[in-house]
Amino acid sequence: MPVPVADLDEVALVRWGEEFGRALGAPAFVTLSGDLGAGKTTLVRAIAHAMGATQAVTSQSYALVSEYPSPRGPVIHVDLYRLRGPAELPQIGWDDILRAPATVLVEWPDRAEGFLPSGQVALRLEHVDGRPDLRRLTW
Ligand SMILES: Nc1ncnc2c1ncn2[C@@H]1O[C@H](COP(=O)(O)OP(=O)(O)OP(=O)(O)O)[C@@H](O)[C@H]1O
Ligand SMILES: [Mg+2]
Repeated sequence: MPVPVADLDEVALVRWGEEFGRALGAPAFVTLSGDLGAGKTTLVRAIAHAMGATQAVTSQSYALVSEYPSPRGPVIHVDLYRLRGPAELPQIGWDDILRAPATVLVEWPDRAEGFLPSGQVALRLEHVDGRPDLRRLTW
C-alpha cells in the first residue's frame, strides 16, 4: 500500500488535523515528527480542538507536558524537543503518560527512541523546497 502523503497549506493542514481529531478513537498515541517550524504544534492544536478541548494549546518554552481536558478524555501534549535523551524520560513521568487513558500527542518522538509504544500513529511534517506556505504531511 502506498504511504499517504499530501502537500498542504496551513488552512488545509488545520482542516486535516480537525478531521483526524474527529475520527481518532481515544485513547490513542500519536507521534508528530519534523523540523523546527514544520507545523507539529499547529497540527496538535487542530487535533485537540476537534476533540473538543476548549483550552488553547500553546507552544510552551519550559513545560514538556501539558494536559487539556476534553469531552473525549484528556489530551496530553508532549514536546520532547528539550529532552536530551531517553534517560530523562522518568523525570517527565513517561510511564504514567504511557499508561494514561488519554490521547497522547508527542512532538520530537525521536528523543524517546526505543521507548515509544508499538501501536502509535506516526505523522511526519516536512518543509517543501521553494514553497514556504506548504508542508508535506505523511501519515
Ligand atoms: N502549511 C503550513 N502548515 C503549518 N504551518 C505553516 C504552514 N505554512 C506556514 N506555516 C507556519 O509555520 C509555523 C509552524 O509552527 P509550529 O509551531 O506549528 O511548528 P512546530 O513544528 O511545532 O515547531 P517546533 O519544532 O519549534 O515546535 C507557523 O508559524 C505557521 O504559521
Ligand atoms: Mg512545536
